[in-house]
Amino acid sequence: MSGLERQAVRGIGYGGDYNPEQWPEATWAEDIGLMAEAGVNLVTVGVFSWSRLQAAPGELTADWLDRVLDLLAAAGIAVDLGTGTASPPPWLVTAHPEILPVTVDGRRLAAGGRQHYCPSAPAFRAAAVELADRMARRYAGHPAVTMWHVGNEYGCHVPACYCDRSAEAFREWLRARYGEPGALNEAWGGAVWSQDYTSWDQVQPPRTAPTYANPAQQLDFARFSSGELLACYRGERAAIAAHDPGTPVTTNFMGLSRVVDQFRWAADVDVTSVDSYPDPADPEAHLFSAMNCDLTRSVGGGRPWMLMEQAPNAVNWRAVNVPKAPGQYRALSLQAVARGGDAVLSFQWRAAATGAEKFHSGMLPHAGTDSRVWREVTGLGADLGRLAPVAGRLVPAEAAILHDWESWWALEMDSHPSRLRLGELLREFYRPLFESGVTADFAHPESDLSGYRLVLVPALYLVSDAGADNVGRFAAAGGTVAVSFFSGIVDTSDRIRLGGYPAPWRDLLGLRVEEFAPLPEGATVRLDGAPETDQDRAGRVWQDVIDLRGADPVLRYAEGHLAGQAAVTRHPYGRGEAFYLGTLPDPATLRGLVRLACDRAGIEFRTDLPPGVEAVRRGDQLFVISHLDRPVELDLGGKSRDLLTSDIVGPAVVLGPRGVLVLAARD
Ligand code: GLA
Ligand code: GLA
Repeated sequence: MSGLERQAVRGIGYGGDYNPEQWPEATWAEDIGLMAEAGVNLVTVGVFSWSRLQAAPGELTADWLDRVLDLLAAAGIAVDLGTGTASPPPWLVTAHPEILPVTVDGRRLAAGGRQHYCPSAPAFRAAAVELADRMARRYAGHPAVTMWHVGNEYGCHVPACYCDRSAEAFREWLRARYGEPGALNEAWGGAVWSQDYTSWDQVQPPRTAPTYANPAQQLDFARFSSGELLACYRGERAAIAAHDPGTPVTTNFMGLSRVVDQFRWAADVDVTSVDSYPDPADPEAHLFSAMNCDLTRSVGGGRPWMLMEQAPNAVNWRAVNVPKAPGQYRALSLQAVARGGDAVLSFQWRAAATGAEKFHSGMLPHAGTDSRVWREVTGLGADLGRLAPVAGRLVPAEAAILHDWESWWALEMDSHPSRLRLGELLREFYRPLFESGVTADFAHPESDLSGYRLVLVPALYLVSDAGADNVGRFAAAGGTVAVSFFSGIVDTSDRIRLGGYPAPWRDLLGLRVEEFAPLPEGATVRLDGAPETDQDRAGRVWQDVIDLRGADPVLRYAEGHLAGQAAVTRHPYGRGEAFYLGTLPDPATLRGLVRLACDRAGIEFRTDLPPGVEAVRRGDQLFVISHLDRPVELDLGGKSRDLLTSDIVGPAVVLGPRGVLVLAARD
C-alpha cells in the first residue's frame, strides 16, 4: 500500500493480539471500527498463522494478510507483525516428523497443540528462518509494520527437548565449553556415582534416571536449552534484519518464568516485552504483576517496555478461571504504565469462537459491545490517551533484588536441604518494598550496581566469583546489602564453596554458617530481639546455624535447639553494611528489617500507604493505584493535578475501588 506514512505509535500503545484469519473477512471492517472506538493503536498480527501463511512449502499464501495490514494502515493502527513460527503446520510435521520434541522421559510429543518443535531440529530451524525471510521481504516498509514479533513465548510448552538430535547438539555445546571430557568430569563431579566420561559420545541429556540425575549436568542442559531457543530466535531475527534492518524486533517473555535466561537474551531484543497473567483469585495478583513489570523493565536495562499480553478478563488454562474484578484490568494496565510500560496489549482482541482458547477472554467478548468488558476496554483506551505525556519516561529505582536464571535453575533442583521455590521467596522480599513505595529493579549479580543504595539477595544459591565480588564491592563503597539464607552456596558448576557458608561473603557478613536446619513444612520458630514488639516474631522455612565472626545479632532464635543463637545479623563493611537473614521472618518482621535496611541506605520507606495501595514514580508523575475492592482514604500531603481527570485533588482524597491517580510528583 502506498501513499501512507509509516505508522508510529504516539503515546502509549494500546491493543492486543489480532487473529483475523479466524474470522470471515466481513468481520474485519467491524473489528477496525471498534478498534478506533476503543482507542486501539497497536495490534499483534500473525503470531500463530503459519498454516495460513504457507499452505505448502515455498511461496507465501498471504493475500489475506496484505488486505488486513492495508486496512490497519488506513485506519492508523500500527502492527507488531508476527513471524508466525510458533506452531509448525501439519505439512511440515508430516515431511519432518523428527522435529517433534521429546520429553525428559522419552515420549515424543504429537502435533495438534502448538509449539511442537525441537529447537535443535535443523528442519524446523530452516523452515522457520525461511518463513521469517519471506515475511520480512514481503512486509519490510509496509506502512502498518512498526515492529516484528519473533516466535511466541519461547520455551512455554517445551522448555527443552531430549531427542537424539538434541543430545548431539548438547555434546557439541559441552565440547565447546569444556574442551575435553576430563574437564567435564571435573565440573560435573564425575567421581560421584561412577559418572566419568571417557569420550563425548557417552554423554547424554539428563533424561529420567532411576534417581537424581547429576545436578551439574541438569544445570548445563538448562543453559544449553535456553541457548538453543535463543539460536532459533536469532536465526529469524537475522532473516528480518537482512530486509528490514531499521524496524525493532521483540519476542514476548513470560516474566517470572524459569525457562529462558532473559538476561542472556536481552542484547538481541530491541524492545523487551512480557506476557503477564496474574491469577485474579490470588489476593496478591497485583504484587505478582508488579514483579513481572519490574523484571521486564530490568531485563531491558531500564528502557520502556511493552505489556505484550494480559487477559482482559478470565483465562482458560487454570483449573478454575476466575474473572478479573471490575476495574482490575484497568488498575493492572495502569500499573504496567506506572512501572515503565509504553504499551498495554491483551491476548486477544476478539474472543475466539473456535479452538482451544475459546473460553479465554478477549477485549471484544462473545457477548459483544453491550458488556462490562467492552466498557472497561473503551474506558482504558481513553485513560491511556491521557497518559501520552508519560510515554518514554523512565522509572527511577534505588533498590535492586539480585536475580539470576542460572541460580534459579540450580536452586530448584532436587536433592537439596529443603524445597525452596524462588518465585515464593522473591515475593516475600518484594512485598515490603512494594508496600512502602520503594521501586526495585531485578539486577543480575554481575551487573553494575553502583546506581543503587540497597541490594537484596534472596536465596541466590549459585553465584560466580565475579558476582560475589561485585556484591562485596557494592557494600564496601557504601551500599547496604541484605543477604538471605541459602545464598552463595555453590559455584557456577554447582560445586559447594567450602569452609562454611556462604563462603564468598563470610567477610562481608561477619559470620559463618556452620550448618542448615530447615524447618518442617509449615513450622515456625519464635524469634526475639530489640526493639520489643507486641506481636510475636517468627521465622519460617529455614534456620541457619550462625557462628558470629564480627556481626551483631539483630534477632535471635527464641526456642528449639538454636535458642539464644543469632538468626538475623548486621555487620559494617567498608563504607556500607551487610544484613544477613538466616531464616525467613514473618511478613511484619521482614518488613521491619527491610525498613531498617532502607533507613541505613537512605531510601524513603513510606508507612502511610494502606496495604493494597501502590505508589510508583515514573518521570514527573506519581502513580497511586488502589488494588482494593473498597474505597480508601489517602492523605496526599498537598494538592496536585490528576492527569487522568485534570482535577485538582488532595490533600485528603477518597480513592474508589481499584481507583488510580496520576499526580505531578513532588521532589
Ligand atoms: C542409600 C545409598 C547410599 C546413599 C544413601 C543416602 O543408603 O546406599 O549410597 O545414597 O542412601 O542416604
Ligand atoms: C500465552 C500465549 C497466547 C495465549 C495466552 C493465553 O500468553 O502467548 O498465545 O495462548 O497465553 O493466556
